[in-house]
Amino acid sequence: MNATTKKNQSASERSEQRMMKAATQDRYGDAEVIQISTVPVPNVGDEDVLLKVHAAGVHPGDWHLMTGKPYLMRLFGVGFRRPKEQTRGSDVSGTVVAVGSGVTEFAVGDEVFGVATGSFAEYASSKERWLVRKPAVVSFEEAAVVTTSAVTALQALRKGELKEGQRVLVIGASGGVGSFAVQLAKSMGATVTAVCSTRNIKRVRGLGADDVIDYTKQNLEAIAHDFDLVLDIAGSRPVSALRRMLAERGALVLVGGEGGGNLFGAVTRNFTIAAQAPFVKQRLVGMFAMVRKNDLEVLRGHVEAETLRPLIDTVYPLEAAADALRHVGSNHARGKIALSVTPSA
Ligand SMILES: NC(=O)c1ccc[n+]([C@@H]2O[C@H](COP(=O)([O-])OP(=O)(O)OC[C@H]3O[C@@H](n4cnc5c(N)ncnc54)[C@H](OP(=O)(O)O)[C@@H]3O)[C@@H](O)[C@H]2O)c1
Repeated sequence: MNATTKKNQSASERSEQRMMKAATQDRYGDAEVIQISTVPVPNVGDEDVLLKVHAAGVHPGDWHLMTGKPYLMRLFGVGFRRPKEQTRGSDVSGTVVAVGSGVTEFAVGDEVFGVATGSFAEYASSKERWLVRKPAVVSFEEAAVVTTSAVTALQALRKGELKEGQRVLVIGASGGVGSFAVQLAKSMGATVTAVCSTRNIKRVRGLGADDVIDYTKQNLEAIAHDFDLVLDIAGSRPVSALRRMLAERGALVLVGGEGGGNLFGAVTRNFTIAAQAPFVKQRLVGMFAMVRKNDLEVLRGHVEAETLRPLIDTVYPLEAAADALRHVGSNHARGKIALSVTPSA
């Protein structure tokens, strides 16, 4: 084959490449950097599962990857000057449309949820180990929002070694992670006190919280004490204040919270607990949630048994991905934000 034929062939291959709509960015910044672009449908490698995306979940991690802040994050392979992966999104639900030769568990037509690379798009590439079958009892939008937030909630409760009958304080109970944490802690037999603002009190009670503290009207630090576990998900309160809410041998799990500056963000509190933890009776731990298939199976079981209900705030169309990210960036989402991508019917 001569060079001209080769050139023509690759040109015709390129012209045959299927294209799709995706929410992309070529630089870090606020939601204005998000564009709806036409990009190639991902190729299917041996270990890949190609999904037709029906819905995507939006979480604060997407917002951090959009802004590139805190800067510390850029040291971990996401792109130093600009995002390496230009299509945003990871949480996904959809239908399998192609599988690589090494894929054994899924076949074309299966309905799944989990994570994929660039889920804010009409098609996204995933792996067998990142996906499980979608429960029939929920919509694609509901399934798409489960992964990152519910895995985080589950792993946080495990890190805190929550046991039946214990008292847990969930700070940030009305958000993505918190709304799952309240439900999972109840299903583990704990007594749950939820912390949220006034407009969310009814919602978190509906999730099963035994008590609710309205942090906008009540002095949380004055009334919360003797908890076996404090899950600190939002508000970025000082570690010293959180420790005063714990029983003598209670556990504090730092899950999240925004603020803390452009360089380190909320991670600064993790330096504090690392310095204090060896010298105190209370257990002080940070965490970085990792999506594991086993955990997705546990969550699927809960959703099927209807002991876990995704609480959705707003569903945006793919074209409004920037608005969805802005909403998440407000830090006051009520439950989860979803993108509806292709009609599931
Ligand atoms: N460590 C990890 O692996 C991991 C994994 C996932 C997420 N995270 C982090 O966890 C945090 C929460 O994530 P998310 O998905 O739950 O966020 P989200 O869905 O945006 O929810 C934020 C919630 O925080 C509440 N909130 C805001 N200010 C508060 C305050 N001062 N006190 C108490 N609650 C307050 C809001 O409720 P009101 O409107 O009622 O104030 C809102 O419901 C983020 O910082 C995220 O980056 C960490």
